[in-house]
Formats: sequence, structure tokens, C-alpha cells
Amino acid sequence: MNVLLLGSGGREHALAWKLAQSPALDTLYAAPGNPGIAAHATCVALDATDHAAVVAFVQGHAIGLVVIGPEAPLVDGLADSLRAADVPVFGPGKAAAQLEGSKGFTKDLCRRADIPTAGYVRVNNRAEAEAALASTFSYPVVIKADGLAAGKGVVIAISEAEAAAAFDTMFEAGDAPVVLEEFLDGEEASLFVLTDGVTLLPFGSAQDHKRVGEGDTGPNTGGMGAYSPAPVLTPALERRAIDEIVAPTVKALADEGTPFSGVLYAGLMLTATGPKLIEYNARFGDPECQVLMARFRGDLLAVMLAVAQGRLADLPAADFSDEVAMTVVLAAAGYPGTPRVGGAIRGIDAAEATGATVFQAGTRRDGDTLVAAGGRVLAVTATGSDIRSARDAAYRGVDAIDFADGFCRRDIGWRELAR
Ligand code: AMP
Ligand code: GLY
Repeated sequence: MNVLLLGSGGREHALAWKLAQSPALDTLYAAPGNPGIAAHATCVALDATDHAAVVAFVQGHAIGLVVIGPEAPLVDGLADSLRAADVPVFGPGKAAAQLEGSKGFTKDLCRRADIPTAGYVRVNNRAEAEAALASTFSYPVVIKADGLAAGKGVVIAISEAEAAAAFDTMFEAGDAPVVLEEFLDGEEASLFVLTDGVTLLPFGSAQDHKRVGEGDTGPNTGGMGAYSPAPVLTPALERRAIDEIVAPTVKALADEGTPFSGVLYAGLMLTATGPKLIEYNARFGDPECQVLMARFRGDLLAVMLAVAQGRLADLPAADFSDEVAMTVVLAAAGYPGTPRVGGAIRGIDAAEATGATVFQAGTRRDGDTLVAAGGRVLAVTATGSDIRSARDAAYRGVDAIDFADGFCRRDIGWRELAR
């Protein structure tokens, strides 16, 4: 089977690496891909916002499955356009992708389906926001832009002055949909569940490190490193999260005629009273996907096709290694602000000779040299029998790489290491 994978990040490199191991794969195409993905796929230029062009490519290249990596094309309804042309696709349609595309949509669904989450109020302008703040919330209060914001649309305000500053930013261009939320206390963990709209297939857990600085300090990023599994999400808590959060979400969307097909990424807060939903994403996490793929032993193409074709009930439980996987992101200086691009990267072979797998994110070729082309540049990934050996193996890989413009956090996994 020929497969088309959309995206260009470390997540998509990990998916390409795993798809390429499937015995059923003929040709993997990636659009646009990156130099790392090019080791497993034929990279093509395709504008994912031009649905007709994507459908034409699929029909012209006998593509049997399209895998949509990032959220933007999902929220934009690309999966609907492909399904309308009878193309199996891994990823939800526009209506179900609102789980990621609109925080207010998800909060309202949680209220309808009685799903545990932070208390909230949706507002549309500054006056409503100030009134809600005065009458409903204490500090800290969580203030979120409603739509896709690449992890940058959330402010945790500890005072009225900080809330006012957040409103200055969120209502800068006038009225805008915003969600105010109760602050949840606890440790975060991410749970991944594949679903074809009816059947659920738990697909592993992970813990990300969103702040740029060691000890979880500094501004938020897309994620500076992750490990899997996340033992803080015990089997009992995972069961509760599936029964109380994921299953009622999937059922509510199916009942409303907009079933979710793809991977549900539930960002959970493990509170004193149990898991609560912080947010949903409608795709794999980046860099969480890198550690899931490092542990997944099944046939990714077969599983994704079963999701796309509504045959998940026929599949056994997902087969993950008992090993721990860790990934460490090498970012370009300046990230998460404007990254310094163009810096040379050497030593990927040396890193892989240590046993690590180097997934590429923001890279491009400049003649014979691989150079940085984005904020997050590499995700150096390794496994071990426990978190300590996974950590040591990942940093052995990191230390073999020569990227003068790069930096990383040296403390990925710190919470679990401390336990
Ligand atoms: P989100 O984009 O919704 O994942 O929010 C980004 C980050 O903000 C999360 O990973 C949490 O660390 C934090 N956060 C979001 N909502 C809450 C909440 N209600 N209580 C505490 N922290 C939150
Ligand atoms: N690493 C966080 C995300 O993918 O949303």
C-alpha cells in the first residue's frame, strides 16, 4: 500500500520511521517532510490547505491511507475532503477536531457529558471577562484563547494585575472568544487513545516538559522532551481516565453525528480527587509521539488503517515494549522566541552509533550540510530498562551531536527520576 503522511516535524519523522517498518508498505510519500523523513519517504511539495490538490495527488499515486500529523489541517477539514473522495484517512474531520480547535467547544462537551474538568466560563469580550473574574473566580485563574495557539494561548494569572495584562493581550485586536478556568492542582500526564469513533484502543502514556528552562521554568514551548510510559498515571488512574473522560467524549461525539476517528491525546491533571481533563489534542503529541513510537512494537500501518476503516474492534491490545523511552529536544538558540536558523548540525551518525535514534524536526539541507531551519531542531530518543538508563542513553546521543547553535534541557524526566 502507498501512504501519504502530512507534516514536517519530529512527530512525523517518528511516524515515518515506524510506518516504514510495516511489511504492507510500498511507497511512503511525505508532504512536505524534512531531511530526516526523506530517509524513509519520497518528499513532495503539496499545499495541505489546497484540498483539491491533496485529493488529486492521492488519486494520482494510488494512496491507500493518508495520515495527517499536525492539528491545523484537521481543524481545517482536510480529513472530510479526503473521506468525501473515499480515501481512508487517519485523523478526525473538522467537527470532531474542534476538541482541539476550540477550548470552549470541549468545555461545553465536558459539561454536557459530565466529564471531570476545571470549572469554566466562556466570554467574548473584556467586559464579560472582568465580570466573570469578579463574580466566579479566585486566584490563580487560568485564561485561555479559544482557538489554536501552538501552546502559547494560556496564561495562569496569580493576581488581578496579571489577569488584566492577559486580557490586554487576548483582547488586543478587539472582541475574541476566551475561556476562564479554575486552576487545577496536581501533576500532568498525557494519555493517548486510538478510536475509530466507537472502539477505543489505549495507546500509551507520556509526560512532556513544556517550559523551556530546567526545573520547569521560563516560557512555554511545544515541548522540550518527554518520556513514556508515565508511571504517575497508574493502571487504575488510566482506567478512570478512560471510563470517566475519554469514553464519554467519544460517545458524545458519535451520538451527535460527528464521530472522532484518529488519536485522542488527553492532557490530564492528576488531582487529589482523580484525573481531570485539561485539554484535548486531536493528533499525536510532539515530542510525545517520538517516545511512543520508540516503544510501539506493532504494525503502525495496520493499526492506522483499522482506525481509518472503522475496524478497531478486530484488533488486539496495542503491543508496547516494557522499556522506558526518553526523548530530548535540541532547540535552536532563541526558541521559543525567534530561533537562530542556519546553524550547522553534525554528528547524527555518531549519536545513532550510541544506540539513540535521532528524529529531525526543524532541519534542512544546505548543500552537503544539515542546518537548523526552525525552533525545535532534533529529538534525540533512546530506550532503557528503567528511566535512569533511558535518560543516560538519550543524553549519550545528545552529547555526540555537534550543534553549536543548539541547546537542550538536561533534566528531562526529573519528576520520575526523583521518585
Ligand atoms: P493547554 O494549552 O490547555 O494544554 O494549557 C497549557 C498548560 O497550561 C497545561 O499543560 C497546564 O500546564 C496549564 N494549564 C492549563 N489549564 C490549566 C488549569 N485549569 N489548571 C492548571 N493548569 C492549567
Ligand atoms: N507536546 C505538546 C503537544 O504536542 O501538544
